[in-house]
Amino acid sequence: MKKVGVAILGLGVVGSGTYRVLTENHDRIAKSQNLDVQVEAVLEINPERARMLGIEERKITASIAEVVGNPAVDVVVEVIGGIEPAKTFITAALKNGKSVVTANKELISKCWAELETYARRNHVGLYFEASCVGGVPIIRTLTEGMQANNVQSMVGIINGTTNYILSKMSKEGSDYATALRQAQECGFAEADPTADVEGYDASYKIAILSSLALSERVTVSDVFRQGITDVQAVDIRLGAELGYVLKLLAIAKNTEKGVEARVHPAFVSKTHPLASVDGPFNAVLLHGDMVDDIMLYGRGAGSLPTASAVVSDICYAATRSEPWYAPFRNTDDPAEAVKINTNFLSQYYLRLFVSDQKGALSRVAGVLGENGVGIREVLQKGESKDGFATVIFITHQTEENDMSRAIEGLKQLDEVKSVESLIRVEQ
Ligand code: HSE
Repeated sequence: MKKVGVAILGLGVVGSGTYRVLTENHDRIAKSQNLDVQVEAVLEINPERARMLGIEERKITASIAEVVGNPAVDVVVEVIGGIEPAKTFITAALKNGKSVVTANKELISKCWAELETYARRNHVGLYFEASCVGGVPIIRTLTEGMQANNVQSMVGIINGTTNYILSKMSKEGSDYATALRQAQECGFAEADPTADVEGYDASYKIAILSSLALSERVTVSDVFRQGITDVQAVDIRLGAELGYVLKLLAIAKNTEKGVEARVHPAFVSKTHPLASVDGPFNAVLLHGDMVDDIMLYGRGAGSLPTASAVVSDICYAATRSEPWYAPFRNTDDPAEAVKINTNFLSQYYLRLFVSDQKGALSRVAGVLGENGVGIREVLQKGESKDGFATVIFITHQTEENDMSRAIEGLKQLDEVKSVESLIRVEQ
């Protein structure tokens, strides 16, 4: 049986979960993979954490040099998160001929090319299944299960925190601030929730996943990003009346005009496969030209689900005869840059306060039409207040640029008191 020595950098939520999976399922992994995986070192500034897990004193260190100089270590697992010191530690491991497994989406999405260069030079692996969608094996599905396909689109709920908040708002009618507070109380949102609620976390993940899905290098700066902090309870309620559920979607599409990579709130129909993905759960709907639709669903975060993906990568690193690298030229050469299309095609939900006078709606419809925005559905809600009424339009598929021009035109109309909300509708 092949012996594999592992070092775990960081014994936080995912690091301690990884230790637990490797310990509790050691025999199962030995039997199914023919691997004897042993934790040979842990790097942790708080040694008490390691002691509480029963890790031998001689294996606990705060020195990365000690870890990467240890000949018993074959695979270094980085589960610290963030850019530094994770980047320095991973670089040291790769340069010392250790394969690296990481759950670090921010680092991979921003420094993938650089780290992969070190991995290739030293002929070792750099694996990051746990960086995207936690325990759901999305990366292996894309790279080892869909090779026969051109992946044409990927639409996912890939951030559990925002899905928990939006689900609460939908089900309980609560406002954003209340739902965020509940998420924090239940441990589904950080004390500083910015990375999740502003869509950064999802943009890191979709940059990685769209690169793999479309075999084109997509960087974080290529991803259009809009978070959920401006979402209003009234739009969730009115959207529900029209048959929609609001989600923070991460979308990657391969279109004739280029690659689209975006993260933003969007309505989906109640019958859409992603509509029933609630609470902290994640799901990704992939469309391949040969296989048609595939949907993956599961826990996108958490100690043991994420550790499940980490340990899968450890086994992958240990059982491959050659390291695996991304199947595209992942260089920083601008000439290699992928063609990104930001003029997305989308339907829209548009909520306005409009003068409740004869002819007002036709003026509004006129501005939409003049700018190439077709109307699919119109709803006027309830009584008018101060002579203005709430009117909701659902548009036909519209280009982003046309919609922006239409909004500017509407703001000039005397009949429009305010443009209250503009939310994309994903088919
Ligand atoms: N904060 C992330 C989420 C954790 O809510 O999905 C996993 O990246």
